[in-house]
Parts: sequence; structure tokens; C-alpha cells
Amino acid sequence: MEASIDEIQNHYHRPNLYEIITGQLEKQNIDLKQVGRRDLSAVDEFHVRGAAVSEELATSIDLEDQNVLDIGCGIGGPCRMLADQFNCQVTGIDLSPEYIRTANKLSELVRLDHKTTFIQGNALDLPFQRHTFDAVWTQHVQMNVPDKKRFYAEIVRVLKPGGSFLYYEILKKGKSTLDFPVPWSNRPEFSFLFKSSEMHSLLENLDMQKIKTTDQTIAGIEFFEKMLARIHVQGPPLIGLNLLMGESTLLKISNLLKGLKEKALQLESGIYVKPDLN
Ligand SMILES: C[S@@+](CC[C@H](N)C(=O)[O-])C[C@H]1O[C@@H](n2cnc3c(N)ncnc32)[C@H](O)[C@@H]1O
Repeated sequence: MEASIDEIQNHYHRPNLYEIITGQLEKQNIDLKQVGRRDLSAVDEFHVRGAAVSEELATSIDLEDQNVLDIGCGIGGPCRMLADQFNCQVTGIDLSPEYIRTANKLSELVRLDHKTTFIQGNALDLPFQRHTFDAVWTQHVQMNVPDKKRFYAEIVRVLKPGGSFLYYEILKKGKSTLDFPVPWSNRPEFSFLFKSSEMHSLLENLDMQKIKTTDQTIAGIEFFEKMLARIHVQGPPLIGLNLLMGESTLLKISNLLKGLKEKALQLESGIYVKPDLN
């Protein structure tokens, strides 16, 4: 197995994640027969600004009834949101077998398993025919991927002509260095950041048409500042990203926040369309 894949799978691996999440729900006196999708959103949206940013991205184009692929879907929160709110049929793919097991079980728990499918696999070798999806979605994944050219080429290959690509990314900005660990890596050797301009030239070289980009950095800083203030007063939440990031959660968040504030990093979301040449 390629070294970086092995390292990334280990980085995200949390044994018994589904059982831990359901145990925490029960501690909150939530009846497991009555759990709703939104009861999970503090843990199943593993990116800066959580559920709010996913909903903003989803409403920025018409995704209703579409067949969507989420690349690096984690435990599947955004997939369930797209299935539930926009009646999408959603496939999530992720490197982590434990995340995929958890994603499937959480969809069953909230009765969305008929609209979501989760598959373990690599973004660089997508097990789908060309022109399969109406939309491809990815949030906070490419920082784990060294071969950016292949990552974006795979996205464009599986997208139907006329289909949309929606992304939300952590990107390199200035020259300042980053402190580790960060949420996506414990070590600099397995963090593969690149610049927004580099991402856009890769997509343009693949003939994709830019529709919109939004700088999310300020909103991301505010989100983390509020989260850290809350943790300072109340301690770690029963259900939160701490279940995914483990003991070093505070350090990982603080290092990411520092990177954003010092302009070493930026957050950007956006939309591209694959031209329909017929
Ligand atoms: C920070 S999490 C984001 C999860 C999800 N996109 C979300 O926003 O809730 C990054 C995810 O990317 C996945 N990942 C990293 N490299 C990948 C690859 N080459 N192929 C598929 N998934 C990958 C990881 O396993 C992890 O679940």
C-alpha cells in the first residue's frame, strides 16, 4: 500500500466510532429510535463551519433530485443533508473503512439509507464509469492527496457533461509555516497543501468553467473562536468533532486557527461546471 494512504487511513481511524456516537446520544437522553439527522451534525460534518457551510454550498445551485458523489465523505453528514433536504441520491466514497461502516450505520439510524450509499475507496481511482454523476462534491479532502492532477482529473471524468463540481477547501496562502498536528495530519510530511491559484489552473486545464468562488476564511476564524470559547467554559461537548479528532482535538484546532489568522492558510468554497459540448 502506498505510504501516504496507509498513514492517512491510520490518522483518521477511530475504532467503534458508531458505537461511541450512539453511546453519546444516549447520554444526552436521545432515544435511538427517534434520532434525526440534525442530532448528528456536530460530529458528522468534519470541516470548518460544519453543517452551515454545507447548506450554503448546496443552496448556491439547483441540486434537487440529482445523483451526487461526495469524495472523501467521512462519516457522511453532508451526504445525508443532500439526500434529506434536496432529495438527492448520494454516493459517498472514503479511504477509511471505519468511517464507511459508521456512515452506513448512521444513515440506517436516521432512516436515510435508501438515499445514501457509502463505498470504501480511493479518490485517485474512483470505481465509477465516466459521466456517472450530475454533481461531484468534496470538502476538506485534497490536503491529504499528493497527486492533485489525478484528484481533479478523476472528478472531471466521473462528472456528466453539464454537471457541477462543488468544493470547500483548505488551501495554502502565504509563506508562514504551519504548526502540527492539524486536523488532517499529525506531521508535515503528510499534509499536501497547495494554493487556490494552482487549484484553479488545474481545473481550467481540464476545461472546467468557473461559476463562483467564496473566501470562507473570516467566517472560519469566527467559527473556531466561538467553538474554543465554548469549550473553555463548558468543556468538550458530548457530541462534537472531538469524537473524530481524539485527545489532540484542541491542539489541532488551535494550530489550524493560527494558520488561518496568520494567513498561512485560507478557506475557499466554489462551483465549477463541466461544459456540455453537444
Ligand atoms: C477532514 S475529513 C472530511 C470528511 C468530509 N468530507 C466532511 O467534510 O465531513 C477528510 C476525509 O478525507 C478522506 N480521504 C483522504 N484522502 C482520501 C483519498 N485519497 N480517497 C478517499 N478519501 C480520502 C479521509 O479518510 C477523511 O474521511
